[in-house]
Amino acid sequence: MTNKLRSTAWQGKAWHGLKRLDNVANIEDKVDFHPTPPMAVEAFLEKEMKRIPTRLVWEPAAGAGHIVDVLHSAGFTVVAQDLHDYDNAEVQPGVDFLDEAQPLTIDPHKHSIITNPPYRRSTEFAARALHLGVPYIACLTQLQFLGSLKRHRLFQEFPLSRVYIHSLPLPFYRAGRWKKGSFNHCWVVWDNAHTGPPQLHWIVTEFSYYHKRESK
Ligand SMILES: C[S@@+](CC[C@H](N)C(=O)[O-])C[C@H]1O[C@@H](n2cnc3c(N)ncnc32)[C@H](O)[C@@H]1O
Repeated sequence: MTNKLRSTAWQGKAWHGLKRLDNVANIEDKVDFHPTPPMAVEAFLEKEMKRIPTRLVWEPAAGAGHIVDVLHSAGFTVVAQDLHDYDNAEVQPGVDFLDEAQPLTIDPHKHSIITNPPYRRSTEFAARALHLGVPYIACLTQLQFLGSLKRHRLFQEFPLSRVYIHSLPLPFYRAGRWKKGSFNHCWVVWDNAHTGPPQLHWIVTEFSYYHKRESK
């Protein structure tokens, strides 16, 4: 069932999908909605763009469209879906990525997935995408995603291709603005074209950079 979030008083700043995000603080934890700082997506694409095998991308937990907007700007065609309704015409609401009984509206073999899945269900999200046979999957996760027995089993079955570690904590959005974060994040990538052990890369981004962009 679609969970309507339209009653939230969205007000907005106008760059990169920040629209409709103010006053979201009271609901964001409930629905596991933590928008991705657009700069983090841009920094990831800068390093990884040439390796993404399709121009068709599936964002199955798109939220208010923060990743989607950056992907569009980079020239990708994006199918954006989410369980909840963030009142963004680009994002189809009411689609539960984890519900195997829900028929898929797209061919998973022809799309790459680039997403920031709900933190509480990130392992299930990755496993579902892998079992669907998506040829390229990139997920923004907390760094601790790499260390757990449950995920070690997943990594044994589906070895990682690349990991991009954000050297500085990513900012998070709360009460109308981006705030300095304290958690470390990384992009984990499964790429069918990759052979050999996983490669490690680092992305160095300054919080002040986000801050500057926000105030424009
Ligand atoms: C961490 S937020 C990220 C939002 C967006 N990907 C971004 O990067 O800005 C996770 C999103 O997952 C959505 N979500 C939670 N459970 C879901 C499910 N079972 N199927 C699809 N989306 C889900 C939430 O509504 C939320 O928008």
